[in-house]
Amino acid sequence: MQLLDGKALSKKIEIQVKDEVEKLKESCGCTPGLAVVLVGQDPASATYVNMKKKACDRVGFYSITHDMPESISQEAIEKTIMMLNNDTNVDGILIQLPLPSHIDTTKLLELVDPAKDVDGFHPFNVGRLTTGLDGFVPCTPLGVMELLNEYDIDVKGKNCCVVGASNIVGKPMASLLLNAGATVEICHIETDHLKKHTLQADIVLVGVGVINLITEDMVKDDIVIIDIGVSRNKEGKLVGDVDFDSVSKKSSFITPSPGGVGPMTIAMLLKNTLKAAKINAQEKK
Ligand code: GUN
Repeated sequence: MQLLDGKALSKKIEIQVKDEVEKLKESCGCTPGLAVVLVGQDPASATYVNMKKKACDRVGFYSITHDMPESISQEAIEKTIMMLNNDTNVDGILIQLPLPSHIDTTKLLELVDPAKDVDGFHPFNVGRLTTGLDGFVPCTPLGVMELLNEYDIDVKGKNCCVVGASNIVGKPMASLLLNAGATVEICHIETDHLKKHTLQADIVLVGVGVINLITEDMVKDDIVIIDIGVSRNKEGKLVGDVDFDSVSKKSSFITPSPGGVGPMTIAMLLKNTLKAAKINAQEKK
């Protein structure tokens, strides 16, 4: 069994991004900029946003967080997004999800300029991904592909079972795998007889936020396991969706959670923001 070390790879990527930021600053005086919109008091969201901000600081990005109260109106957030769309210091816009229930999330995501959509959530970029065109790809599934690539795990022709069908993780994960030549099955928390599906897979990728959902009887020998779930157990410890102790014994490769996919998400946000900044720098020339 080999661990897929997202922490180590993300550090390597950060060094590459930092290097490129310095070059960009030298060549055109441009500093990549990321704007984050955070609404309400969700502690997990605040933690994620803080981690993203710190990562921006480490690589030399300009970053700004628009911290808004839970009670804010749809119109006020829309105004902020339109202002950020027009702000030339901002290359990437990220709306931290989930948003409060009175907010129309889809409408806000559609308002973000697709050229600044570093989360890859705008339908324009979703469409480009599903048709196999270049665009912005959601950070978590993009990070999984980088991790597989780093360890020379070729998905071409492999049976991949994606468990979880969210717009943020499961659906774009399936598109990326399909684009890379894998045979893909998408299951989710409502799937009957989940085990029947996971047992057919060479690679299981799971992100639904259910502790110990994947147990050793559900996977075949030498399975590759990508655990995208992160939840807090009764003891307050962060854990994934996979029963790591038993499943790891049957695995050829497995991500720990935390420390596997999580750090890759932030590294991909940096990469996407750098990509947006480079395109903008080209356009300014
Ligand atoms: N909430 C949970 N994951 C994500 C993510 O990748 N991006 C944003 N914007 N919000 C999230």
